[in-house]
Amino acid sequence: MCGIVGYIGLREAAPIIVEGLKRLEYRGYDSFGVATISGGIELDKHQGRISDSSGSAIRLTGKIGIGHTRWATHGVPNDINAHPHMDCSGRIAVVHNGIIENYAELKRQLISRGHIFRSETDTEVVAHLVEEAYASEKDLLSAVQKVVPMLTGSYALLVIATGEDRIIAARYASPLVLGVGDGEFFAASDMTPVIDHTERAIFLEDGDVASISHEKIDLFHEGKTVQRPLELIDWSGEDTKKGGFPHYMLKEIYEQPQAFYNSVRSVTGEILPASVKNAESVTIIACGSSYNAGLIFKYLLENTCAIPVRLDFASEFKYFPPPVRGLVIGISQSGETADTISALKQAKVHNCTSLAITNVLGSSISRIADFTLFMRAGPEISVAATKSFIAQLAVLMQITSFLRNGEFEDVLRKGHQAIEEVLLMDLSEAVRLCLNARSIFYVGRGPFYPVSLEGSLKMKEISYIHAEGYAAGELKHGPFALLSPETPVVAICMPGETYGVMMSNIKEMKARGAPVIALGEEGDLELSEVVDIFIPLPVTHPFVQVLTSLIILQLLAYYTAVGLNRDVDKPRNLAKSVTVE
Ligand code: F6R
Repeated sequence: MCGIVGYIGLREAAPIIVEGLKRLEYRGYDSFGVATISGGIELDKHQGRISDSSGSAIRLTGKIGIGHTRWATHGVPNDINAHPHMDCSGRIAVVHNGIIENYAELKRQLISRGHIFRSETDTEVVAHLVEEAYASEKDLLSAVQKVVPMLTGSYALLVIATGEDRIIAARYASPLVLGVGDGEFFAASDMTPVIDHTERAIFLEDGDVASISHEKIDLFHEGKTVQRPLELIDWSGEDTKKGGFPHYMLKEIYEQPQAFYNSVRSVTGEILPASVKNAESVTIIACGSSYNAGLIFKYLLENTCAIPVRLDFASEFKYFPPPVRGLVIGISQSGETADTISALKQAKVHNCTSLAITNVLGSSISRIADFTLFMRAGPEISVAATKSFIAQLAVLMQITSFLRNGEFEDVLRKGHQAIEEVLLMDLSEAVRLCLNARSIFYVGRGPFYPVSLEGSLKMKEISYIHAEGYAAGELKHGPFALLSPETPVVAICMPGETYGVMMSNIKEMKARGAPVIALGEEGDLELSEVVDIFIPLPVTHPFVQVLTSLIILQLLAYYTAVGLNRDVDKPRNLAKSVTVE
């Protein structure tokens, strides 16, 4: 995830763009850059945070410009890989948010036709493709319209060219909004950089291309003129922080459809190392939420591929290394967790092949591992892992699918739709129950057991209510002694082999006085009649039900913590990245 800003009007573009990029830093902050038109194209870009630089670092002139703040996905964070990217002639500049999935093939073709690439990014192919199209079309709008059908993946693009008094914008599966001011126009990843200048906005839809000149905006969809409504955005100054959400955590929860979508598509047969494709056994090392993601993977891989998976806490692995062989996977959102790094080094001592799964390009874990798969969650600022967790699952589920010859590909490619569906569910009744709880148990079976571990981790870390995740069958082996009307149980009870035993477990808990909140499949009357609060989830593939139930548990924790007035994004005693053992 990155942030993009464009400006065209009567004022100097660069200072407006720089301020806008600072507002969008929550979307990415490893490098930044701006390009303006001032006769030719002026370009300035740097590694680092735009807010850390002197602010006046960018001194470009011109009344038309585009800018970008980056979260690296292809190519490490450095000056060269920072956006904007230019074509061979230096007459065209492009900024991009999203992932061009077919960039490798496009790049090969462009190089064979003589194009010179400077960066390692996927975005640069767009600059060169527009260069070719512009040579024949002699018109920037037509050139971009010719290029976008060649791209697969997701993109919000802004393109400028020498001699063209306009910005061309295009969007597919990445957000892009146009701000309509008085004699000036803006383009941005969201309203945050725009709201200081105007409240009037046009939200582009997938497949839209816009030509933004000094006078007007012309919108096109599949080559034909379209109209999109002009909307009034009445955000207060406070709302503009965190993209309009009250907390980063909620913003990040709502970014999960995109994080899942991008992460699924980032794992292709081409980049999957042979050691994964031919794995006969797998060992996973991770901490916290990343461990829980690993445990879900264990259930999926063992049940669908019959490949044994061993899971270790990274903090234990280093000091008590088991006799491992074959493939060791270290999972870490930050890529900087000290325990996971030490454990991965330990695994290498045992001559294992190591694979890192991480969200941060260039992070320590990716430098240690033999291979790395990057998830595409974008920066996660709230301490509690949410979208990075869903992105880890996207990568791990894609691996599972590959090992089953693509069996789950269609399901995973549509998974973001079900995630979107549950985001708006009303959980107020369940939240009321949790607000008064002394302790909460979370139970599930199979992959829903680690889902319950993750749900309870979210609840305890941000609401400070004691919460425990259990394999449902284990509760009667001791924890039953704690059940009471102040100890609700959150039970995940989906159709399948364990449905009957889950129902029995739920009845046993109810009989001991515990109120039960159940997550089940919509239309399940039997379950909804037995429990106190029933939360219906869409009827989908079991993999996707893992995702939708997780989203509900994240939201339950979030709204409970808000109800208790907790510091949701920075819970007490916790840090985002645990860099000490
Ligand atoms: C929980 C959480 C932590 C992390 C853990 C590992 O919400 O965020 O439990 O999952 O500290 O961090 P990474 O994945 O960065 O190694």
